[in-house]
Amino acid sequence: MFRKNPSRGALTVRVLVMAMLLIVLGAARVFADEADQIRGKIEAVNLIGAWVDAGAPEKEPFRFTGKDGKTYMATFKEDILPLFTEPNTWAPGTAACKKCHFAVSKDSAHEMDLSSYEGIMTGGDSVSKPDKPARIIIPGNWNNSILRNRLRNNRMPPGMPFDITESNRDGPVVTTKSGGSIEAVNLVGAWVDAGAPEKEPFQFTGKDGNSYEATFEEDILPLFTKPDVWAPRTEACSECHFAISKDSAHEMDLSSYQGIMTGGDSVSKPDKPAKLFTPGDWANSMLRERLRNNRMPPGMPFDITESNRDGPVIEAGRPLQTSAETTASAETEQPKAAPSSNVKSSPATPEWAIPALVFLAIVILAALTPTRKGPPLS
Ligand code: HEC
Ligand code: HEC
Repeated sequence: MFRKNPSRGALTVRVLVMAMLLIVLGAARVFADEADQIRGKIEAVNLIGAWVDAGAPEKEPFRFTGKDGKTYMATFKEDILPLFTEPNTWAPGTAACKKCHFAVSKDSAHEMDLSSYEGIMTGGDSVSKPDKPARIIIPGNWNNSILRNRLRNNRMPPGMPFDITESNRDGPVVTTKSGGSIEAVNLVGAWVDAGAPEKEPFQFTGKDGNSYEATFEEDILPLFTKPDVWAPRTEACSECHFAISKDSAHEMDLSSYQGIMTGGDSVSKPDKPAKLFTPGDWANSMLRERLRNNRMPPGMPFDITESNRDGPVIEAGRPLQTSAETTASAETEQPKAAPSSNVKSSPATPEWAIPALVFLAIVILAALTPTRKGPPLS
């Protein structure tokens, strides 16, 4: 195979120079790999959920499962905070949360500061209700967190204008057959708190302070079946929620007493339908929430499918193996996390493998390459 034997000295120098070059190249390769290493992909709402369910740590990394089923590590500062402080994160043209929620002060929407860890942990209303602030997250319990609702749920009916004041949250003022005037949401509330009777009249206090009577048929049902009731150019609820069937939004029928009492999801979850309310308890009713609360951030497009409810798919975190050292400390904080044997399992390719292999290949190549120096060919 060797056509020529190069002089030993020249070969050694060449091999050494190439080896050094390769070590440099190999190292660069590893660093480059680290830099553009594939990040985890996950919906923004679910990333916040993983953080909250991990106890909402400020400094410790937390784990999440990416859409590819692999485990990644992320931190509050790098991966969560920007979701609140950067514009256009949730949808094009939407403002950053911190634009409106910028301080724990009366001037800030809901007296809330979403620009810092402390602010997010404090939640809303802590100036006017210092002993009963509205905590927007419950560490360890994302499913019941206000923040989750606000990020996922559309205000009903779709197309309600975003109103920066408290004034339109209870809907327009309506006048009943009996002549009493009251906000639409509060009229429905009076009916629910009276036990949601189908035929019996119920009483409510009008805006003038007097007592009036109303009935489901004449005064409540039209709020669900007529267009333009809640705001100009809004459809009737029953336009989208027209039957207890898979074709109807949320399998819900808001066109009849029966349907309203049944609530949503009763086809796919017959034993656990989503009740709109418990008669007598309007304050904790899901219907009240949907009629009053704006989806955050304002300006989110209304999407008729389930697909945009958890927000955009974003890139976050790092694959678990590269943060194995940091994981060890996170583990002590979260005893419920997966056993550490999973974490320590050696990564597929050790970091030195690539440069070592390239180095080896070059040494062999160098040994095989004929040299032009030395005595002329005979
Ligand atoms: C354009 C201003 C604006 C922006 C931007 C905004 N909000 Fe709001 N937010 C409000 C207003 C006004 C309210 C009160 C009215 C309401 O409840 O709909 C509110 C209410 C809330 C509440 C309810 C607080 C409570 O105590 O019930 C939460 C949670 C919330 N926003 C979170 C967010 C998040 C998260 C973002 C970013 C993804 C965001 N907001 C972006 C103005 C804004
Ligand atoms: C343009 C179609 C449309 C109209 C009109 C509409 N909805 Fe909806 N509604 C939906 C869709 C789609 C969903 C599911 C997405 C979501 O939760 O935001 C939904 C969800 C709901 C939910 C949540 C159900 C659950 O199980 O979580 C309630 C409650 C609701 N709507 C009530 C109403 C009421 C009350 C009105 C009228 C004031 C109304 N809707 C008007 C399309 C509509």
